[in-house]
Amino acid sequence: MTDTKGFDFKTGVPLGQIPDGAIVAGHLGDDEIVVVRRGDEYFAVGAHCTHYHGPLADGLIVDDTVRCPWHHACFSLRTGEAVRAPALDAIACWRVERRGDVVVVREKLDARAAPPGAETHAVPRSVVVVGGGAAGLTAADMLRRLGYAGTLTMLSADDAPPVDRPNLSKDFLAGTAKEDWIPLRSPEYYAENKIDLLLEARVTSIDVKGKRVRLENGTTHAFDALLLATGAEPVRLSLAGAPAIPVHYLRTFADSRAIVAAADASKSKRALVMGASFIGLEVAASLRSRGLDVHVVAPESEPLEKIMGPDVGRFIRRLHESKGVVFHLGATVARLDGRIATLSDGSTIAADLAVAGVGVRPNIALAEAAGLAIDRGVTVDEYLQTSAPGIFAAGDIARWPDPHTGERIRVEHWVVAERQGQAAARNILGQRQRFSDVPFFWSQHYDISINYVGHAERWDAADIDGDLDAHDAVVTYMRGGRTLAVATVFRDQASLEAEVKMEQRFREPPSALAAPKG
Ligand SMILES: Cc1cc2nc3c(=O)[nH]c(=O)nc-3n(C[C@H](O)[C@H](O)[C@H](O)COP(=O)(O)OP(=O)(O)OC[C@H]3O[C@@H](n4cnc5c(N)ncnc54)[C@H](O)[C@@H]3O)c2cc1C
Ligand code: FES
Repeated sequence: MTDTKGFDFKTGVPLGQIPDGAIVAGHLGDDEIVVVRRGDEYFAVGAHCTHYHGPLADGLIVDDTVRCPWHHACFSLRTGEAVRAPALDAIACWRVERRGDVVVVREKLDARAAPPGAETHAVPRSVVVVGGGAAGLTAADMLRRLGYAGTLTMLSADDAPPVDRPNLSKDFLAGTAKEDWIPLRSPEYYAENKIDLLLEARVTSIDVKGKRVRLENGTTHAFDALLLATGAEPVRLSLAGAPAIPVHYLRTFADSRAIVAAADASKSKRALVMGASFIGLEVAASLRSRGLDVHVVAPESEPLEKIMGPDVGRFIRRLHESKGVVFHLGATVARLDGRIATLSDGSTIAADLAVAGVGVRPNIALAEAAGLAIDRGVTVDEYLQTSAPGIFAAGDIARWPDPHTGERIRVEHWVVAERQGQAAARNILGQRQRFSDVPFFWSQHYDISINYVGHAERWDAADIDGDLDAHDAVVTYMRGGRTLAVATVFRDQASLEAEVKMEQRFREPPSALAAPKG
């Protein structure tokens, strides 16, 4: 239900119109509210997600939480707390009263105090977070939300405070999101929460025994607990030739701004995008929205084929072609001379702007040099602890024992990185919370969002329910009859339900996966 006006909760709603487990939308004065019934209990909370304003009326109730249909944030119906990223802030709650057969919403409740922290004996005196990205920010944020009062330092190689990285290839690059939407937190947030954020502070070594990190500038920081959240770096191409234009890469706010500036330059009419990955295609969509001609060069026969299969790949290609993108598939850029790219098949493309999105490499050198266990990522146990006690890792660098696949996996998803940051914070405080979330990511192309839950590196069947080209479909990836992942286009309920089903199927991980060896 998306009728935001809906019921007038001041007058009240007859009990019979609020089925158990349903979400009923309405308002109290100017406030948009949803009311939920769980058995004999009624809850009234804000109608919009604090991430991107998703309509919670279209979400899913799971126990005493509501999940957002857009990117699966999860809020407590009792306290409004954002219990799972990508939302970081609580939604408001109102008092609900039953008057005979009618439910009435009364005054707004005060924000509840943060839940108590862990037992004091387990709490470190100082925590250092290396990385100012998704996992680093949510870890620091959760430590403070849980009442952690010790010293908290965030060291980031970036020149900007933590940003909404997914937006850098989407609305910001397309010109529909303003600069001030991009920081994840306000400038005052860090001082208010006593988070000592140091920018352009690259850590160069970790003394595991001495519990200290050293920065590029020679200074050191002692820690009782350390979180490594160093993310990933774009793979750089080494192209032959003498180019007259730079090849742009996209990871940071500065990178995105540089592409915007180049696209805005009066001479930029045609963009060459190397790579048909999520980043490459999102860049293609955003640059098309800015009115540039866009040519995408990539070696695969369909974009995203390896990750999502040929049907989704064809759909994505047709979608981009319908917007005017020209694909050169089965080819790579062999050289760039002046503004002319020569492809491996001998053809040429003249370009004013070049962007490469050809994958990323996790930043694991720091962990590796410190002697931590490495396996194509930093090896962590189910509590996200590395092979060194007191040192945790989260986000793009972490390879963790995923109970859903029974395999150790490493993914490059925003929501996973944020949730791992939150879980690592709890474990730093001694809460021993296993990370068992079902992986989730989304990707946006023009006004089409693809949501993906689960993890399927290999599958033997991909069943499509609905019609991808009609923008109404569920694709189920299976191996040996078992559902590993579900991709959806405008089927948000199916995506939420698939996530819950996978959670319910969750089994204890095999013990062999539990502890990384040093
Ligand atoms: C343009 C773009 C769009 C994306 N869109 C999506 C999307 O739509 N959906 C999705 O699921 N995922 C998306 N992703 C992926 C997602 O952003 C990443 O998975 C996520 O940011 C990983 O979080 P992280 O904390 O591990 O690393 P990051 O967010 O990359 O943060 C790493 C931090 O570590 C710092 N750092 C690195 N080395 C050091 C060092 N030695 N010392 C100090 N600091 C260091 C970096 O400066 C940075 O601050 C996108 C990524 C990009 C680049
Ligand atoms: S809008 Fe709710 S999770 Fe993104």
